[in-house]
Parts: sequence; C-alpha cells; structure tokens
Amino acid sequence: MNNLRINSFSEYKKAYKESIENPEMFWDNIAENFLWKKKWNNTLEFDFSKSEFKWFKEGKLNITENVLDRHLEKNGNKTAIIWEPNNPLEETRIITYRQLHAKVCQFANVLKNNGIQKGDRVCIYMPMIPELAIAMLACARIGAVHSIVFAGFSSAAIASRINDAQCKLIVTANEVYRGEKPINLKHIVDEALKDCPSIQTCIVYRRELEPTMMVGGRDKFWIDEMAKASKDCLAEEMDAEDPLFILYTSGSTGKPKGMVHTTAGYMIQTAYSFDNVFQMQPEDIYWCTADIGWITGHSYIIYGPLACGATTVMFEGIPSYPDFGRFWEIVEKLKVTHFYTAPTAIRSLAKESLDYVLKYDLSSLKVLGSVGEPINQEAWHWYNDYVGKGNCPIVDTWWQTETGSIMISPLAGITSTRPTFATLPLPGIQLALMDENGQEIVTSAEKSEGRLTIKFPWPSMARTVYGDHQRYIETYFSTFKNAYFTGDGAYRDAMGYYRITGRVDDVVIVSGHNLGTAPIENAINEHDAVVESAVVGFPHDIKGNALYAFVILYDDQNPSEQLIKEIKDEVSKSIGAIAKPDKIQFVKGLPKTRSGKIMRRILRKIASNETDFGDTSTLLNPEIVQDIEKGKL
Ligand code: PRX
Repeated sequence: MNNLRINSFSEYKKAYKESIENPEMFWDNIAENFLWKKKWNNTLEFDFSKSEFKWFKEGKLNITENVLDRHLEKNGNKTAIIWEPNNPLEETRIITYRQLHAKVCQFANVLKNNGIQKGDRVCIYMPMIPELAIAMLACARIGAVHSIVFAGFSSAAIASRINDAQCKLIVTANEVYRGEKPINLKHIVDEALKDCPSIQTCIVYRRELEPTMMVGGRDKFWIDEMAKASKDCLAEEMDAEDPLFILYTSGSTGKPKGMVHTTAGYMIQTAYSFDNVFQMQPEDIYWCTADIGWITGHSYIIYGPLACGATTVMFEGIPSYPDFGRFWEIVEKLKVTHFYTAPTAIRSLAKESLDYVLKYDLSSLKVLGSVGEPINQEAWHWYNDYVGKGNCPIVDTWWQTETGSIMISPLAGITSTRPTFATLPLPGIQLALMDENGQEIVTSAEKSEGRLTIKFPWPSMARTVYGDHQRYIETYFSTFKNAYFTGDGAYRDAMGYYRITGRVDDVVIVSGHNLGTAPIENAINEHDAVVESAVVGFPHDIKGNALYAFVILYDDQNPSEQLIKEIKDEVSKSIGAIAKPDKIQFVKGLPKTRSGKIMRRILRKIASNETDFGDTSTLLNPEIVQDIEKGKL
C-alpha cells in the first residue's frame, strides 16, 4: 500500500496536520487504496450527543476481498501465514494467499451449508491454529459476525458471551496442548452449550487424534464438512457500517461488553496503522505473539497484516515451552524481521538466564513492538539491548479493544523513541488530556498529567456495545462532553510525547489482560462462605499488576488454605484462570463511605504497601483500615 506510507518525520507532521485540518479528505485518500464494490458518498457523519458515528456511508465492500482476493493476481503464491506449532517437533505450516483464499471460501460454504446467513453471529473458541484464521475470515466472507472467545476462558464465560450475542453456531477444536498441558476445548464447550439454546451447530476441528464425544444432530467434524463444501464462494456485499465482529472486553462493572466493530472503518485503519507503525518491506516476516482471542490478534495478526499483503506468523505455544528460548528460536528459524509482544512476556523472559536469548541469531530483527500495558524502564532496556541489540526501534503502541487500531505509537525508524513513552498520536487521532473538572489541559509543560480522551471520531472505533447502546454512551461518552474517554491516565511531555500511566477505573491490566474487578468479586461472592469481597490491583514484577482480594467470611467460617483454593476455583469457573487473585486476605470489614460504597482507593494503597491513606475520617468505619493493614499479606 505504497500510497499510504509515511517515510519521514516531516511527512508524519504533514499528514498529521492534514488529518486534523480536514479529517474527511485525509481518510478519503486512504480509503481510495482499497477495493470497493460501490464507493461511499459521505465520509463521516457523527453525533457525540447520541454517540453515533458512521464512516464511509453507503460504501459497499467485502473485507475478505481486500485481505485475500486483491493479492491473488500478483502475490497469490506469497506466504500469508506461517504457523508455528506448540510442539517444536511438529512441522511448521506455510499457507499462501491463494491457499488461504481457497480455505476461507470453502469454510464460508460450510457455514452456509449449516444455515448461517449474513448478520448471524458465530462464536469461535479455538487454539492458535490456522483454522481459527480461516473460520474468522469465512464469517467475514458471507457477512456473518464473528465473536471470538479467547480459548482460556471458562464454560460459564463462553456461555454468557454466546447468549449475549445469540450465536447460532460455534467453531471449536478437540484437545490442544499449551506447553505440556493438554486442554480439552470440546469438553469446555460441551459444558457451556448446556446453557446456550441459540446454538444449533458445533463444528469441531480435530487438533489431536483423540476420540471425541460428539452430540448427534449438533456436532460435526470440520474435516467432514469441508469435504462437502465447494472452494468457490462469492463475497457478500456488505455495507461499510455492517458489523464485522463482536469482541468482549471487561468493564469496571457488570458483565463484559460486546464491542461491535464495523467493516470499512476497521479495515482501513488497521491496515493504515499497520503499514505506518511497522514500516514493513514486502519480503519481511512479521510476528505478533498475541492470541487472536484478543483485539491485538484480530487487528495485528489477521486483518491489518493481511490487508497489507504481509506475511504473518501465528504461534500456537507459550514462551516458556520447551524452554525460555522458544521465542528466540522461532525468530532465528523463521528469520522474523518484525516482532510484536507484550511487556509481561518481556519481563517473564528477562528474569531467566540471558543464555536463552544469546544462544540464537536474532540478526534478522528490524523492528520491535510492545502492546497491552505500560512498559517499564527495565523491560524496555532489556528488550532494546538483548533482543534488538540496540539496532531495532521499539514501537510502544497504545490502543484498546474499543479503538480497534493503534492510536499512539512511534512510526518505526521515523519517530525518535523515549523509553516508556508511546510517543505521538497517529495521523487522524486527536488526543486531549482532561483535568478532573473536564477541562482540557493545553499547556506544553514538561509534565502535563490528566485523563486521556479522544476528541474526534476515528474510523476503527467500536460503534456500540452489542445490545446495549446506553452502556456504550455511559461508559465512553458521558465522563467528558464531546469526547471519548479511554479510562486511562496519561501524561504528556514538552515534546508532546504521551506516556500512559494506567487505568483510572476499576479495570486492572494483569499480564496485558484487561480484567474488570466487579465480575471477579461476583465470582468470589458465589462461594457459600463469603459475605462480601473487594478486588484491587497491585504492582507485580512480572505481570505488571496482580489481583488482591479482600474477603469477608460469615461468622461461622474459618479462614483456611482449602477455602482460598475454593475461592480461586470459583473465579476460574466463572471467568478463567487468568482472573485468579494472587493474594486473598480475610478481613472483618471493608472501608466504606457513608453511602455504603467501598473505598477502593484505600484498599489499593494497602495492597501496594503504601501507608499514606489520606483522609479516612469520612469513612463509615475508619477503624477497619488499620485492622486490614495489620493483616496485610
Ligand atoms: O490501559 C491501557 C492498556 O490496555 C488497555 C486496553 O486493553 P485491551 O482493550 O485489552 O487492549 C489491549 C491491546 C490493545 C488500555 O486502556 N494498554 C494498551 N496498550 C498500552 C497500554 N498501556 C500502556 N501502554 C501501552 N502501549
């Protein structure tokens, strides 16, 4: 996509200026680079008061023609996906654009043969195998809306997501290995489907040759269905604003929010940002280590890279198996040029012997990326010195499930970096720091600190919360007038560089995973012995943040190791193992305001080993603070 590429810092500044002065013209020019069935007639229509945003109105297209068909003539034999299995002894799979296109069309016909039509929702609960990419793109081919659930979530979490979106079909796999651990996804799905009346069909990919229990009339094997399906499938004509997918993200309260992303804006901005942030050359090999179950995998393993005709690596395993050198072994073997991972992964590898890194030839690397949480100084320098050998720019990319694509990031080799700073907004992104009174902070002081907001729409923004537009309005557009509130705090230096300081709401980023504390508390409270609980985050060397639960038990219950285990199991059951608290402290009470609200600010300080709790006199029960502090873990 050569027409989109920014090649120097002065070009960046020019593009940024144009994008602010005339956003519509700016995005029009970018949109011209794509394949449309019918051109749009109005670039942007929006109304902050109703939180309604429409991009490329009346435009018609299919995203799969842009990420697949468009490349076939010149680059059909180029590798689209390189798949690296969990077990290094198993073979790497290479899938060209032509092969991927054929498989996607074939699976699109499988979906159709099973009654799926444009607009239907399809749940995908799969390991990191190419069939996951095929299934998601097949949905897009026929205009079905995919809802991918990370394959580490529990049955209850799958069921609530399926029911929220009323999915008609689910695609899964049987047994998979993560490191040495076997996980039977099909069992987890079977359990979930007990409570999912909307599901009519379950398609099972056989990852392992285990006997698999199939439910008659509902369950079908991938291989059998594919054998019956043709490889030709015309791409459904979609409106620019038709939903492409739903992806759930934690909220600070209540159930997860199904963020709805639409077709054209999402496609254009993921491609544009991928192209400019990573600055790939045609022969480069790009590897993003995220899981496709998260937004990073959607936007920067699949849609962004494939829209740009890049070669993207998909890795099924974990960084520690068979040993802590696995990432670097893969970089050497596949000659990866662009490597994009999370600070948690960097920290967990940095604490192991350096030999794991030094043993491998990493000279193919050109660009390193970081995403998902603030990267601390130590991790940044380790990444820079030992992985990049001081030669690879680090792009610290800030964005969210809701933003769809990268909002703040250096452009590799173009924007000078500053450790721990995500640096500057991409063209088209109008940031503002707000003070507590909702006033924009406009100074260019060395350190302006505030709440990070975005004051003009951008094409890849999520358009609504599935089935609950009011929640979308309240969560993102009610805190500040005429601006999207990110939920993050940030500061800006005199050069205009942004550093994200972390969440200012009740979402905690643990190992790069976005977890709401309310659903975890609800899970803990499910235990019969528990009266009430409060969960907060605290700093953790590897995970960035970890969870600390303060739990009140009924009078007749005694704290025990067994009880701690049972409480953790409740959380695993209801959400998934990633949400299990690291620390559980049993307490007699929780600090509350006079209106009965838990003062989490104080609990956060206790959990973080801070001692200055500020004014506690307004609490209903100030004496409890000392009591909790004494029993601190
Ligand atoms: O707090 C910010 C943090 O991750 C949150 C978004 O999480 P999620 O929707 O799961 O998307 C993660 C992948 C894009 C943000 O509100 N975050 C993400 N990237 C960064 C970050 N914090 C600091 N620096 C980043 N580069």
